[in-house]
Amino acid sequence: MSEFATRLIAWQKLHGRHDLPWQNTRDPYAIWISEIMLQQTQVSAVIGYYQRFMQRFPTLASLAAAEQEEVLQYWSGLGYYSRARNLHNAAQIVMDDHGGIFPREFTAVQALPGIGRSTAAAILSFAFDSPQPILDGNVKRVFARHFLIDGWPGTPKVEQQMWGLAEALLPAQNMVAYTQGLMDLGATLCTRSRPQCPSCPLQQTCLAFAQGRTKELPASKPRKAAPQRQTMMLLLLRGDEILLEKRPSSGIWGGLWSLPEAATDISPVDVAASRYGLTVEPLPPMPVLSHAFTHFKLAITPQPLRVLQADTLVPASPAIWMAVDDAIGAALPTPVRTLLQKLKDGALQGALPP
Ligand code: ADE
Ligand code: SF4
Repeated sequence: MSEFATRLIAWQKLHGRHDLPWQNTRDPYAIWISEIMLQQTQVSAVIGYYQRFMQRFPTLASLAAAEQEEVLQYWSGLGYYSRARNLHNAAQIVMDDHGGIFPREFTAVQALPGIGRSTAAAILSFAFDSPQPILDGNVKRVFARHFLIDGWPGTPKVEQQMWGLAEALLPAQNMVAYTQGLMDLGATLCTRSRPQCPSCPLQQTCLAFAQGRTKELPASKPRKAAPQRQTMMLLLLRGDEILLEKRPSSGIWGGLWSLPEAATDISPVDVAASRYGLTVEPLPPMPVLSHAFTHFKLAITPQPLRVLQADTLVPASPAIWMAVDDAIGAALPTPVRTLLQKLKDGALQGALPP
């Protein structure tokens, strides 16, 4: 038997949980109900629901005979109500297809609505001492740490690797203590944050503990790259002054003074003319500036322009000419202040008068 299983079983018997209301029964119906309730809900929240549910629907036949409405009533407040509808459906399937006897074969159990591979295994190991591997979120965390498995456990590759381990580690007997031990270890010692390694029965063989990597494992779900948006900012320079425009009061940078913006695929010279009545000539470009918001990244293409001639066109939004030196102290978005500072520091040799 694996060292892993031996240690875990011994620990479960001494330090695991033994008095939860769905333990100390071999009734597959009772175990099934508890496993479904525990799928997405904490033990502490499940206990009362489980007791009321079992009092009202003590047998599989009583559940199958009930109205769905009443089953849902007893589920009310637990959430994920498809679990209750699936339970009710599955009870009727067991009545019709299995003569009212909860099946003992893995494939028959897994075929019932709402029962996946790990839940089927948990029911069979608790009810019949059947050697079936479980792999829920807690077990994935223990495996990732103990066996130093990199990669997010939600990926098919990592999950497949872990199912392989789960099968290889199964003990020859004591399936109830082993399966409960996996659940108990993940829930009480090998917790998401601050695992209590000094009390852990697997510490001597745990690779993450040995390498001080318990904090990094399991790897978290890769975050989707933030979407990229593009904008061009016009640095319209007239002598030592620059044109600032007030942002609308709602939205990004609401109410701040900013630079005129345009799409990156249109001519900044045309924008200056049509929107501001300015005749301009392009100055050498400045490097693109990236600014991170919570939900997207903004790539800013700064376009410096020297104003040659100004008409009397009044822009639609409040705009002012301000000396670059003074503008730096105004209420500006950070990347705009960065750009003005670069200007001041001579990014554009000769663009500003000395
Ligand atoms: N979570 C899922 N199944 C469980 C069980 N049998 N005991 C405690 N927590 C669980
Ligand atoms: Fe988890 Fe720590 Fe035990 Fe390793 S030693 S299995 S990290 S509690």
